[in-house]
Amino acid sequence: MKIVVSIGGSVLARELQAEKFASYAEVMKEIGRQHTLFIITGGGKAAREYIKVARDLGSDEATCDLIGIELTRLNARLLIAALGDAAYYEPPLNYKEAKHASLTGKIIVMGGVTPGQTTDAVSAVLGEYTGADLLINATSIDGVYTSDPKKNKDAKKFETMTPHQLIEIVMKTEMVAGANSPFDLLAAKIIERSNIRTIVLNGEDPRNIFDAINKKNNGTIIENNRKNEKRSNKIELESDTCNLGYYSDVGCDN
Ligand code: UTP
Repeated sequence: MKIVVSIGGSVLARELQAEKFASYAEVMKEIGRQHTLFIITGGGKAAREYIKVARDLGSDEATCDLIGIELTRLNARLLIAALGDAAYYEPPLNYKEAKHASLTGKIIVMGGVTPGQTTDAVSAVLGEYTGADLLINATSIDGVYTSDPKKNKDAKKFETMTPHQLIEIVMKTEMVAGANSPFDLLAAKIIERSNIRTIVLNGEDPRNIFDAINKKNNGTIIENNRKNEKRSNKIELESDTCNLGYYSDVGCDN
């Protein structure tokens, strides 16, 4: 299979620790031996700190984004260092370079590409552009919930959902400042148009990624199938209800 794994900065580099990169590299090598593997690394705490300082100094948002991109690439370099020979030696700077580099048969590790988005979007576009069979978002939450589980104890986890449902959830979550969204909106839209099979899972333990690839799912699967389409219709109805002035949580059967 061709697999794109997006590793959130919040799991890979909340604090910079060699052990974290090494434990990820071990599992990624195992996956890379059986599959074509692309990895996108997030920026983590350091990116947020750099961006804050730049903002305090009066930088515009695009400049802050460019600084964030540099930090995602630094994390990519650290993971490449941990992967050694198994990885392509440089983080590609764009999608074309990444596709070209994958012809070497090595694991490709890269960060952000352009201002105005996050690495979620990079992983979704790369998945589409390379015709990936699977996109995995390894994040700090163990799946997609009806609302932010860190703030709402009644939030329910989806075992499966449609890309359309994902968009609904992301739009709802992104409206709340500081909320934990499973994907950014651009990524969710790309997932919908490309219909790439996607799994959101807890990336604290990299073995969860290995397990998900080997059909032992532990997160939320996002794909179009009959069962999910029915749920999607339900959401459309509930959205209409919202337009009438009622608040309604996004439907979840679990
Ligand atoms: P991240 O993808 O790490 O963003 O990129 P994030 O939302 O902070 O993710 P987590 O919480 O660590 O998982 C870090 C920053 O880099 C810039 C953005 O400013 C983003 O917030 N960036 C990243 C871009 O502008 N373009 C990209 O393609 C990628």
